[in-house]
Amino acid sequence: MTESSDPLLGVYRPPDIVFVRGRGTELIDERDRVYLDFTSGIGVNALGHGSPVVRDAIEKALETGLIHVSNLFRTRPAADLAAFLRDRSGLDRVFFCNSGGESVEGALKFARKWAKSIGGVEKHRIVALKGSFHGRLFGSLAVTDRPEYRAPFDPLMPGVEFVDPDDPRQMDRALSAERTAAVIVEPIQGEVGVKPLPSELLKTLRTQADEREIALIFDEVQCGLGRTGSFFAHEESGVVPDLLCIAKPLAGGLPMGAVILADRIAGVMKPGDHGTTFGGGPLVAATALAVVRVIGDASFLESVREKGRRLSGHLERIAAGRPDLVKEVRGRGLFWGIELTAAAGPVVERAREAGLLTVPAGARVVRLLPPLTVSEVEIDCAAEILEAVIEGMDPVT
Ligand SMILES: Cc1ncc(COP(=O)(O)O)c(C=O)c1O
Repeated sequence: MTESSDPLLGVYRPPDIVFVRGRGTELIDERDRVYLDFTSGIGVNALGHGSPVVRDAIEKALETGLIHVSNLFRTRPAADLAAFLRDRSGLDRVFFCNSGGESVEGALKFARKWAKSIGGVEKHRIVALKGSFHGRLFGSLAVTDRPEYRAPFDPLMPGVEFVDPDDPRQMDRALSAERTAAVIVEPIQGEVGVKPLPSELLKTLRTQADEREIALIFDEVQCGLGRTGSFFAHEESGVVPDLLCIAKPLAGGLPMGAVILADRIAGVMKPGDHGTTFGGGPLVAATALAVVRVIGDASFLESVREKGRRLSGHLERIAAGRPDLVKEVRGRGLFWGIELTAAAGPVVERAREAGLLTVPAGARVVRLLPPLTVSEVEIDCAAEILEAVIEGMDPVT
């Protein structure tokens, strides 16, 4: 298809491949070519393509005749899913929405209303981190440190300050008690190139947020729900946020997001303060409940950690073979970035030509997000392709 005849808005640059089927970690195109999908639809298909868990949950939900009812009324799947997420997170309330960006919008609104209720109108500023990505809506984009994404749409939500996560003094100054409502962080920064934040930083933020009555928001839209080998990515740090954003894998590929929040913040939200027509509908919620029950299982999470160790072992070996091209491999569980000393695009492209789908993160990082159900054989096979591609790249001088 030529660009001028494409009916789709030109905000994406997909290669000329049309996928028609999926099966576990595999995607199959119109010409019956099989690819290993180490993108999972950018972290969405945690249980793989064509998952029987997802299919059965959808079929069962459809039998009730309820796809959508609206939040004018209660439905059982939303209540059960909210209870599951509340119990797993140690937080108190859940608001359902339809995407990651929307979950961030919600968290920012809840945090602001709470902060202003205790500190007056001046206590409205939001602190975000350098390298952050939180979405493309006017609020979530405002806390996203990508000037090239933001500039065409200025003015965005005002009152945001970006802080270098490696500069504790700057962080301390930015978190002013009088003016700051919230600080938002991804425990593993995804889009900037898979950068795990040190647990110490999360702990310091927790302490400062408590001392200064600032809401601590964790955005786990990409790193949460089993991706790192724990149900929530922050669990490893022992730090519990006040608000937690999740989305991508939540409903097995159906669009769904959620904000999980502490009662002291939730208490300021009254009927009419926020809402969405589709959020928490019975079909998506029933599907999500089936997905999180699988992901939340202790042996499932252990398998993610084990497969993650296998994948990282391969990546370390590949990196050691090309020290001129591979600067660092970083990640946790089944969430990995290979930082190159050159552009990631050609590696992503050649891997695709060789049958492995990966996704760049920033200019120089090749990101790997296989389904959490990926097999050891598939991990070995993907590593073999990646190794051949990386070995075949021109030397970087
Ligand atoms: C950490 C994080 N937050 C928010 C978003 C936005 O999610 P969505 O694209 O569903 O709006 C993303 C998307 O990649 C993300 O990685």
